[in-house]
Amino acid sequence: MQRLIPRLRADGVELELIMLIRTVLAASKEIAFRVSQGALSGVLGSTLDENIQGETQKKLDVLSNQLIKDMLLSSPDVRAIASEEEDDVVKGQEGAPYIVAFDPLDGSSNIDINGQIGTIFTIYPARDDVPADSPLQFAQPGKNQVCAGYVLYGPSALLVMTTGGPTRQYTLDRTHGGYLLTKPELSIPEQTSEFSINMANFHRWQQPIKDYISELQMGKDGARGRQFNMRWNGAMVGDVHRILSRGGIFLYPANQDQPTKPGKLRLLYEANPMAMLVEQAGGLASNGEQRILDIQPSDLHQRVPVITGSQEEVEYVLDKLK
Ligand code: AHG
Ligand code: MN
Ligand code: MN
Repeated sequence: MQRLIPRLRADGVELELIMLIRTVLAASKEIAFRVSQGALSGVLGSTLDENIQGETQKKLDVLSNQLIKDMLLSSPDVRAIASEEEDDVVKGQEGAPYIVAFDPLDGSSNIDINGQIGTIFTIYPARDDVPADSPLQFAQPGKNQVCAGYVLYGPSALLVMTTGGPTRQYTLDRTHGGYLLTKPELSIPEQTSEFSINMANFHRWQQPIKDYISELQMGKDGARGRQFNMRWNGAMVGDVHRILSRGGIFLYPANQDQPTKPGKLRLLYEANPMAMLVEQAGGLASNGEQRILDIQPSDLHQRVPVITGSQEEVEYVLDKLK
């Protein structure tokens, strides 16, 4: 086992970026502690407020957002931040090298059932051609990310992160408070027999997605000729973590009855960081038409369909969508 910082230096990462990642991780450790305390730390339950997406905010959404926001805005390396829980871009330090976007608490509906939840983050170089507080700071395709990661607050608190090299996994050592490298290189098997999708939306999908899922449900008697299994956490961070750990395919397609809402997941702070982590582990991530990391964003809180995971399975779905 190695410590986080030597490993990052070995990956040739800039010192400012290392310091910035440490800031994000400091906030995550505080969240991990509060989560582990549950009802004892008063973090369960809802607020009376809604975020810009019209979703009721949980206490932990608000607390996590505030912790990460406060720490990032005190960093000399952050020019701007964007968050699921912030309507607009928040300005940091003029001239700082990086911008950070985050989903402070992914899987909010799992908070009160002691289920899997996490924090997703992504770091881009700041743009010098637009003001620090412009939403255009974040109008960069995901392929510009210099770091993507999440912290999964499960039985262990795990950090999964890439800075453009391998996707690595670290475990929070609560005895001394550091993230220790426990899997130096995650690798997604090319083939899988496990899928992850919210089946309750079946009737709302476009026909090729319905056909694909029906094939999987038919098992040995269907076109695929083998049995598939289904797993659904209700938190992207948990579902993608399973795929990074043992393969699989995760889909969150658009619902046809909501033409103005192309899928549920947000491009900036959900789809893009997960796509980078998956690709760096040998998998694929698409919106059904193009690589997620190539999408030119049009809005800060833009939603996209997501099809990601084991290479051969994602390619099979993309063939059906042609
Ligand atoms: P968040 O808690 O940050 O709003 O994100 C929840 C997302 C994602 O984690 C998950 O895959 C999806 O919502 C599940 O939503 P449904 O239960 O509505 O399918
Ligand atoms: Mn989320
Ligand atoms: Mn969230």
